[in-house]
Amino acid sequence: MAYETILVDTKGKVGVITLNRPKVLNALSLDLSGELCAALADFDADEKVGCIVITGSEKAFAAGADITEMQTMTYMDAYGSDFGANWDQVSKTRKPVIAAVSGYALGGGCELAMMCDMVFASDTAKFGQPEITLGVMPGLGGTQRLTRFVGKSKAMDLCLTGRMMDAEEAERAGLVARVVAGDKLMDEVMEAADKIASFSLPILMMTKEAVNRSYETTLTEGVRFERRLFQSMFATEDQSEGMTAFVEKRKANFQNK
Ligand code: CAA
Repeated sequence: MAYETILVDTKGKVGVITLNRPKVLNALSLDLSGELCAALADFDADEKVGCIVITGSEKAFAAGADITEMQTMTYMDAYGSDFGANWDQVSKTRKPVIAAVSGYALGGGCELAMMCDMVFASDTAKFGQPEITLGVMPGLGGTQRLTRFVGKSKAMDLCLTGRMMDAEEAERAGLVARVVAGDKLMDEVMEAADKIASFSLPILMMTKEAVNRSYETTLTEGVRFERRLFQSMFATEDQSEGMTAFVEKRKANFQNK
């Protein structure tokens, strides 16, 4: 499918989506959100893809929701269209999704990164929720996800002052999994994505579901959920192959079964 606001590519078993509105620092327009969700759904349905990467440009992952689209929006426009609800599709993706962030990840850009399963950042990355400076607040999950990542105090600091934090602070705070020297970011992201995609896909998907469940439930329920999923893995051929390969001192050959 031909897209206008994103580039889509498959490298081995990794689906790569590059946000591509360079003139406006990848501002997240409605068209972009539709195309991004469509591309994610396609990769999710593609049996040959085991991991997905979302990235932007060197200057910007994304500088937020498109302010020009929102400038004249009324309450009824926003409520009537349930503005922002389409983004829920990103976190419903069942395969692992890595955000590869260089430059600005602000507002909706920071929120998009947080919808992914892990964030790898170049040392040039800058994260923030500057909506307060525009007379609004984060609207794509920022107040909720950022607080879970970095805790209440820093989330308040970022949301109420609108300041940016650099990659090092974001890693220290728990928002970022790895910080990588700028020119090495995509190498490191693709290495991790290739590794993830080499494992059993159903087991990856169940693992992602279990980690995500920890956000939604109590510890007791979460541990029970994990245990049931773990037990169910013994119905897969990939469990048998993985453990047999270890015992036979060879590389496992997973079949996604
Ligand atoms: N929406 C629309 N256009 C944007 C944009 C955005 N979020 N961010 C940048 N642009 C445009 C600029 O208007 C500019 O366009 P022109 O060349 O036509 O003037 C172009 O991108 C380049 O931007 P700058 O000239 O401003 O670049 P800079 O290097 O001087 O500054 C920046 C970079 C600090 C990121 C600055 O562009 C900026 O502050 N952008 C807005 C960040 C922001 O407030 N994001 C939150 C958006 S609201 C949101 O996301 C709500 C939500 O949760 C749903």
